[in-house]
Amino acid sequence: MTTLHSLQQMVSRGEKIATLTCYDASFARLCAQAGVDVLLVGDSLGMVLQGANSTLAVTLHDMLYHTRCVAPAAAGCWIIADMPFGSYQQSPEQAMRNAARLMAAGAHMVKLEGGSAMVETVRFLVERGIPVCGHLGLTPQSVHQLGGYRVQGKQAEQAQQLLDDAQGLSDAGASMLVLEMVPSALAATLTQQTGLATIGIGAGPDCSGQVLVLHDMLGAYSNGKPDYKAPRFVRNFMHGSDSIQTALSRYVAAVKDGSFPAAEHCF
Ligand code: KIV
Ligand code: NA
Repeated sequence: MTTLHSLQQMVSRGEKIATLTCYDASFARLCAQAGVDVLLVGDSLGMVLQGANSTLAVTLHDMLYHTRCVAPAAAGCWIIADMPFGSYQQSPEQAMRNAARLMAAGAHMVKLEGGSAMVETVRFLVERGIPVCGHLGLTPQSVHQLGGYRVQGKQAEQAQQLLDDAQGLSDAGASMLVLEMVPSALAATLTQQTGLATIGIGAGPDCSGQVLVLHDMLGAYSNGKPDYKAPRFVRNFMHGSDSIQTALSRYVAAVKDGSFPAAEHCF
């Protein structure tokens, strides 16, 4: 059974943490059988399940429903639930109230987006018994402020901000950190400096683990545009697999042996 302690032990011995998003019981069972360590009930469900073009409209109710679908079926996996847009930014108290509901729905940890502005909230939750995963780099809930889904931390100033934000989250008690679409070298430095268990998506091979959106790695997602092309960091593990179960097992193996992500998936 995966616990915060066993995840930290994996990091210490250099074993990569294989993570996938998951939204329902059937896939939770398949992921657990394939040896996926961590399941993220991500607010990407707004795009993948609901067909929206951002995560902004996802509600706490949606997240509770899908966390309840995943948790009982995800035997042995560590379960992270995303806090949706608007459910935590207002105050630590608001975040606590809503995080408690996600934990009651079966999450072991909540994830929230943002850096220094979230430090006080992260401390508030951690001191009250809720493990917290941060999320820096491309933070999809800020897509309109960021001007699109693109690489973050390329300029020296942005990179330093990211390092400072990560250190702040770590000092506040966050134990994991999703890094989305940041240069590999920056993710490597950040992972070394902060001691956080970093889970990368488009963040290079030197993170403590990797995550992909389940439907992306199974080639099951398009945004409805005929010319849709998956992001650079995605590998379709159905290519060369005869079943979903095989694709999931190959993903876990590729994360563990370091063959995913390859240079072509990185920035
Ligand atoms: O919602 C999600 O799927 C995520 C991952 C992309 C990290 O936050
Ligand atoms: Na998310």
